[in-house]
Amino acid sequence: MKTLRSDFLWGGATAANQFEGAWDVDGKGPSTSDMCTNGSHKTPKRITRQIEEGTLYPSHEAIDFYHHYKEDIALFAEMGFKTFRLSIAWTRIFPTGMEEKPNEAGLAFYDRVFDECLKYGIEPLVTISHYEMPFALTEAYNGWAGRECIDHFVRYCEVLFERFKDKVKYWLTFNEINAGTMKMGNFLSLGILNEGTDDFINQVDNEQLRFQGLHHQFIASAKVVKIAHEKYPQFQMGNMICFITMYPYSCNPDDILEAQKDMQMMNWFCSDIQVRGEYPYYAKRYFEENNITVKMEKGDFEILKDGCVDFYTFSYYMSSCVAKNPIQEQVSGNLMGGLKNPHLKESDWGWQIDPKGLRYTLNEIYARYGIPLMVVENGLGAYDIIEEDGSINDDYRIDYLKEHIEQMKEAVADGVDLMGYTPWGCIDLVSASTGEMAKRYGFIYVEKYDDGTGTLARRKKKSFNWYQKVIASNGENL
Ligand code: BG6
Repeated sequence: MKTLRSDFLWGGATAANQFEGAWDVDGKGPSTSDMCTNGSHKTPKRITRQIEEGTLYPSHEAIDFYHHYKEDIALFAEMGFKTFRLSIAWTRIFPTGMEEKPNEAGLAFYDRVFDECLKYGIEPLVTISHYEMPFALTEAYNGWAGRECIDHFVRYCEVLFERFKDKVKYWLTFNEINAGTMKMGNFLSLGILNEGTDDFINQVDNEQLRFQGLHHQFIASAKVVKIAHEKYPQFQMGNMICFITMYPYSCNPDDILEAQKDMQMMNWFCSDIQVRGEYPYYAKRYFEENNITVKMEKGDFEILKDGCVDFYTFSYYMSSCVAKNPIQEQVSGNLMGGLKNPHLKESDWGWQIDPKGLRYTLNEIYARYGIPLMVVENGLGAYDIIEEDGSINDDYRIDYLKEHIEQMKEAVADGVDLMGYTPWGCIDLVSASTGEMAKRYGFIYVEKYDDGTGTLARRKKKSFNWYQKVIASNGENL
């Protein structure tokens, strides 16, 4: 069996708004995620236009990586991380997104973080925008619905590239950009506020605005990829997709076609543009049938063509089933639910666990694009229990990760070029969908709870030592 490459990038993944805290420290401005209240399994997060006294906003303190970064990076180093995926909070650098000059204190924080990583030989993998943007841009332009955001984003990236050119080599433009093809993406990834609604999950949907916002993100992404290629040849620029593998529920050709349509518009559409540099043929019919008109400017096609990414990254947590006339039981999932697959088990949050689906997905993506791939999120959100002796025996998490790594290795044996693996929430952090702390992914437990209380103390889980062994053996010892 073929082994993983010797420079395989083992690590873990996080996002600024879910773990940094310090939301208003050192000149940082409010981001869209700072305006989201907590939620739960059953109660959706709310978006508030102003900060409400007495309401809990999980991003405000999160797990306070801002003040614990040395301790946390030391723990990542102890596990043997080769890379650490984190995002930069745009509002630390440009508090409203519209300033001409960046906020030095914000840049200095990331200097400290990157220096700490490099001290241990950990390569930073930076997501430039992970489910947040300056809230001021939402108010000024309705987020990415406004074309003005492109220039503000380009200026932000130019500052990052120049400042961190000797510290960061791997960059991803937008986290899970394809969330914008789904209703959930309105506020989460596009910063779009549809009037009259403040419910994060059930926002009134405006598909026209979503695809317009996506177009602006494609242009912004392509522009900064081009800048990177021209000025910083040492950079590797990637996209990032939330891959939700859709199986037809049955062999009924109607179900097959339904699954193909969903695969195209939800999984392939964004990367077809970011990897191949042009809108895919099937988008035309979808836009016509759904009365979507994307306003483009002269030169946009050239911009897309000139800004193709170097590598493809994605998150993979689950798969889903699709039928033309669904009568089967529904389950929940990442960004969207689907039909229950009788062959799979589910997590405590109803996400269907499908390790073999990862092998299938890696093969499908590689067959389509033939560029290096990286799994930049994968993991099990679960309730963890601290035993009386202080240990946390998360064998369920070890099993989940082990089975997925086995399938990654199968895909590599199939011939897929896989660069690395960064499981999600390597340290417990706030859940993006619900705002909970109880939904834990980490190798490191953080004493922080759903009601906002907790000492913030860090503890190693059983999976910590397991992952250390996996990395030390380059995936041979699972
Ligand atoms: C991905 C996001 O969709 O899934 C992360 O990029 C998110 O930000 C992760 O946290 C897990 O989802 P959740 O809702 O369990 O936090």
